[in-house]
Amino acid sequence: MTDRVVLAYSGGLDTSVAIRWIGERYGMDVITLTVDLGAEGDMASIQRRALDTGAVKALVVDARELFVKYFVFPALMANAVYEGHYPLATALARPLIAKLLVDAANDEGATAVAHGCTGKGNDQVRFDVSIWALSPHLKIIAPAREWGMTREEEIAYAKLHSIPVAATSRSPYSTDENLWGRSIECGVLEDPWEEPPEEVYAWTRSPRDTPDEPSYIEIGFERGIPKSLDGRELDGVSLIEELNELAGGHGVGRIDHIENRLVGIKSREVYEAPAATVLLGAHQALENMTLSKYQLRFKERVASEYADLIYNGLWFASLHQDLASYVQSSQRHVNGTVRVKLFKGTASVVGRKSPQSLYSYSLATYDKGDEFDQSASPGFIHIWGLPVKTQAQIQGVGQPDGPLGIVGPREGG
Ligand code: ARG
Repeated sequence: MTDRVVLAYSGGLDTSVAIRWIGERYGMDVITLTVDLGAEGDMASIQRRALDTGAVKALVVDARELFVKYFVFPALMANAVYEGHYPLATALARPLIAKLLVDAANDEGATAVAHGCTGKGNDQVRFDVSIWALSPHLKIIAPAREWGMTREEEIAYAKLHSIPVAATSRSPYSTDENLWGRSIECGVLEDPWEEPPEEVYAWTRSPRDTPDEPSYIEIGFERGIPKSLDGRELDGVSLIEELNELAGGHGVGRIDHIENRLVGIKSREVYEAPAATVLLGAHQALENMTLSKYQLRFKERVASEYADLIYNGLWFASLHQDLASYVQSSQRHVNGTVRVKLFKGTASVVGRKSPQSLYSYSLATYDKGDEFDQSASPGFIHIWGLPVKTQAQIQGVGQPDGPLGIVGPREGG
């Protein structure tokens, strides 16, 4: 029997060419696996394209619910954002696709799996490490890392072999999308000084064309997970889909970022992530009401570890389980409702409430009803400031010859 390989298939140029190329180069039967994570596009036509291009079988899996439950919401609870900008849509999807590839390979008796990643990006690392962790004996084929074709040569190869190429594949941009966001690379974006042209955006309206009146929305959370929109209970997939539509219509979620790739390259990345932007902002606002200062400080450090780990392809490392357990524990009182105003490209939190809120009006107010004991403050400050005062008396402060006694900017060279 001919050896079989399961190829992660998006329907785009790279993976379409890969079907034919693997057949030629490795003499294997190619089974495609298309994973629906909420990207636009009709699964039936992608399936047809796979078969037309030479796949012996074309599998489609709707993994949107799994994605939201086990990948997106845990990352939201962690506030995982890479380098302060990127909500990690692609990075979160890779380990799930890897798992489904491995499962399909086992079901189909395949000896190899394949993906369309190049040798310059993060995605190859995420796929390969995840596949190794789940099934170390499977061979991994990455045609786009091996064939050394430029985009033009790929298009020529497709023509030569009558491979149907979707119109989007002729665009100068490389894109990836799922429920949590859309990424755009290449073309004019490779010049970091160039403003992204309007044509790169597909999910967000230009703030120039958004409504002149804001929309207010209310998001209800239970244990850190968004459960309702304006009082309507929604499953995670629907909630994210609705928010992408609504917030995208107000131009919310455009991100332009110079990103540090795992493979050592800085790259210019443009993202659209309307739902992620709204939910991350709302979730953090609710945490600010329900977690102590010390929990918030520590959780920020965990968030950055968590984001790095996901970005760097270490989803199946044990550290992930440890961090995720901490994050889950931290969410036990993160219940309540956040009101967000969507307007001209911004999503601002304008109200928050929680049955477990640590905000106390009688402690915070400057009006009648103040219960804060101001007479206790001098004693507190006396002890708090003691080490600073002691050190200043003995060693002075900072730079004794500076006019203000503090370190200023250096002049000249
Ligand atoms: N830079 C992002 C990441 O590493 C997005 C990658 C997009 N992938 C793609 N094949 N276009 O997660």
